[in-house]
Amino acid sequence: MDEIRNCQTSDVENIASLWHIAWHSAHGAIVPAELVKLRTLDSFIQRTGDLVAQIRIGGLGAVQGFSITREGELYQLYVSTMAQGTGLAKLLIDDAEARIRADGYSHSWLICAVGNDRAAAFYRKCGWELIETETHELDTLGDAFLLDCWRFEKAL
Ligand SMILES: CC(C)(COP(=O)(O)OP(=O)(O)OC[C@H]1O[C@@H](n2cnc3c(N)ncnc32)[C@H](O)[C@@H]1OP(=O)(O)O)[C@@H](O)C(=O)NCCC(=O)NCCS
Repeated sequence: MDEIRNCQTSDVENIASLWHIAWHSAHGAIVPAELVKLRTLDSFIQRTGDLVAQIRIGGLGAVQGFSITREGELYQLYVSTMAQGTGLAKLLIDDAEARIRADGYSHSWLICAVGNDRAAAFYRKCGWELIETETHELDTLGDAFLLDCWRFEKAL
């Protein structure tokens, strides 16, 4: 069994649950309360369902992490609290970078909330460079939410 695999519709609930828990753990204390309120489990179920074809799953058996790529963007990268520090995130980001390269991009970018220091340390460790702080339109189920974010880039 591969540790990184494609996502199937049957994975949606497990991914959304992981995304919901890990999002709140990483962002609950560093983003505005209005954004925290928008990040309900239902919102993650809907967003996950819309993105199945772009999701790669990490973990032997149970879902322990996932990445989502969108054209040249590393759109999301999450591992469960239990899987943090195990090296699974590195397997997922290597896989995501390879997919972006295979899609024809020689350069990739990602957005990370200002203050998400663990994620920033991880990206730096993986060769990504912090380019700037920018106001980014975050996806929600309604209007985009504006948030100051760090933009990281990497030549692939
Ligand atoms: C971001 C994420 C994928 C990284 O995976 P990980 O397994 O935790 O990464 P690692 O443990 O390999 O690396 C994190 C590094 O940050 C360090 N670190 C931990 N807490 C930190 C903090 N508060 N501030 C700065 N660095 C921190 C760790 O020591 C480690 O560095 P080291 O390997 O040199 O010791 C994972 O933490 C995660 O899913 N977080 C929640 C969701 C999230 O924030 N996703 C990214 C959204 S942009």
